[in-house]
Amino acid sequence: MATVELKQVTKEYPNGYKAVHGIDLQIRDGEFMVFVGPSGCAKSTTLRMIAGLEEISGGEIYIGNRMINNLPPKDRGIAMVFQNYALYPHMSVYENMAFGLKVAKLPKAEIDKRVREAAEKLEITELLHKKPKEMSGGQRQRVAVGRAIVRKPDVFLFDEPLSNLDAKLRVSMRIRITQLHKELQAAGQTATMIYVTHDQVEAMTMGDRICILNYGKIMQVDTPLNVYNYPQNKFVAGFIGSPAMNLIQVRVIKTNGGVNLRLADELELTLPPAKAQYLLDYDGKTIWFGIRPEHISLVNADDNTTGSTIHGAVEIVEQMGNESYIHFSLNGVSLVARTAQFGSQTLQQGQDRVAFRFLLEHCHLFDLDTEENIGLK
Ligand SMILES: Nc1ncnc2c1ncn2[C@@H]1O[C@H](COP(=O)(O)OP(=O)(O)OP(=O)(O)O)[C@@H](O)[C@H]1O
Ligand SMILES: [Mg+2]
Repeated sequence: MATVELKQVTKEYPNGYKAVHGIDLQIRDGEFMVFVGPSGCAKSTTLRMIAGLEEISGGEIYIGNRMINNLPPKDRGIAMVFQNYALYPHMSVYENMAFGLKVAKLPKAEIDKRVREAAEKLEITELLHKKPKEMSGGQRQRVAVGRAIVRKPDVFLFDEPLSNLDAKLRVSMRIRITQLHKELQAAGQTATMIYVTHDQVEAMTMGDRICILNYGKIMQVDTPLNVYNYPQNKFVAGFIGSPAMNLIQVRVIKTNGGVNLRLADELELTLPPAKAQYLLDYDGKTIWFGIRPEHISLVNADDNTTGSTIHGAVEIVEQMGNESYIHFSLNGVSLVARTAQFGSQTLQQGQDRVAFRFLLEHCHLFDLDTEENIGLK
């Protein structure tokens, strides 16, 4: 059993700073859980409390059925992989991987078997005799992962293990770690993994579920697609997705047939009934309107579909090769649209009266005060 459960966990550092404010979280046996959030939101603090490297100020942490609050790290059945690899410089790769097992007094033959198996899995067999300084960052990171694997822990803890690698290597290591999780699972070795990152591509692609943190609080825990499609609040909406969701303040105006949103002077969007139903109590109020860049499309200049097409001025066009990001403004409100490259190539900076259609069935509505998603009730 390698479930991990946090009950009302808090952390106050000795200097009085409250880093974690009562976190409740259940991680399933064998699950790949990603912690994501901006710098300082307490991803590492939370992970280190699970590892036992940081004391818990309040609450309880369970691994399986055991409450581990007061258990030393070595007895928790965990293995941690750090951003800076933390390899012993004077030891070979083999010795680095074998060290923890030697300390645990495993038989030599068993140690050798585990080290060679892990090396094979990570394709570092030919590096076993090398010292860390003779290897690249990516190779060192594999050794650090290997050192965790050989211990056959119940729970793997990763703290931004790929952030020192270049972009290309990150992608291949990301895929390697995801595969590893599946392979260990298939081999019957429970592999619950908790993976900290501030890279949302890693969060989206690696996790069975994502836990989004902000200022030491959980903002949402769900599958990557649910988090993307149904953000519970404005924070999650703006944090997950690149380019980020457009979020602007609008005024709700009830009309005869439904609900309009006023973006700026004389600019109004008409909500489809499925969305309008959530705003019956909001007449005259200001709310946050969110729409992802891919839900604003470039249409012919003569498109005048009332209520969903608005003409704006192009500020800048970023050509990504396969698509482009069009930054534009509507009476001073800045937005970004994401479109297939076709059609955007002829756009000029400063060009105005460019027509954008808002796919409003995909929009998100957030309460101004609570910032909760109004449309998820
Ligand atoms: N030893 C400490 N004493 C006091 N405050 C600390 C200590 N360690 C961390 N903090 C504070 O606690 C908060 C959470 O820190 P933590 O390192 O967990 O953030 P993080 O989410 O891992 O950030 P990053 O993405 O930058 O690694 C931060 O505001 C940090 O300044
Ligand atoms: Mg950190």
